[in-house]
Amino acid sequence: MEKKTPIIAPSLLAANFLEIGREVEMVNRSEAGWLHLDVMDGRFVPNISFGLPVITQVSKISTKVCDVHLMIEEPEKYAEAFAKAGAQHLTVHIEACVHLHRNIQQIKGLGMKAGVALNPHTPVQLLENIIRDVDLVLVMSVNPGFGGQHFIEQTYAKIRQLRKMIDESGSSALIEIDGGVTLENAKAIVEAGTDVLVAGNTVFASKDPLATIRALKG
Ligand code: DX5
Ligand code: ZN
Repeated sequence: MEKKTPIIAPSLLAANFLEIGREVEMVNRSEAGWLHLDVMDGRFVPNISFGLPVITQVSKISTKVCDVHLMIEEPEKYAEAFAKAGAQHLTVHIEACVHLHRNIQQIKGLGMKAGVALNPHTPVQLLENIIRDVDLVLVMSVNPGFGGQHFIEQTYAKIRQLRKMIDESGSSALIEIDGGVTLENAKAIVEAGTDVLVAGNTVFASKDPLATIRALKG
């Protein structure tokens, strides 16, 4: 079987915010494909991270795909502002969207790739009627809100189910895994069918982040 190389998306949440410019430049020099940006509102998740002003600045100096993960309620109110801030991918949580189909069309209409994220307890089957409309599916492998948590093992089964759904439906959606990705479990996660690995602490807390990003690619 052909070896699959995942796209690596370092999550800026784990960066040193006093050195944010230097951290983004490190990612620019690396073999990462995307830069993952976690937006939290203190309502959808029990934490608050950063928002539009930070992303506006970061997207100006980043040479990687600006992959924005919204962990917020009513994401439709802010989609246009994130497009203006430089987001190239905008991912919304299925649990936060009453009108997911409309939200996805809105994001695409603004010229961004549209992603849908699932919390650990949310079944993959809920995507059946939207899978051909989305560009990516982000499967949370920890409960959203914080970096540095342990990977939930049940995620492997979800990845396999989702891979099957995508392949059988003819959807071109990418599978992105977010939370608890390490040098130890990256290979198994990719073998289960993942296309994109988000990695926060594994990258930014490592002694040699460039080498760690390379190693995550397998
Ligand atoms: C968590 C965020 C993740 C987080 C991952 O809610 O969505 O992107 O930064 O961090 P690690 O890789 O440290 O688990
Ligand atoms: Zn994330």
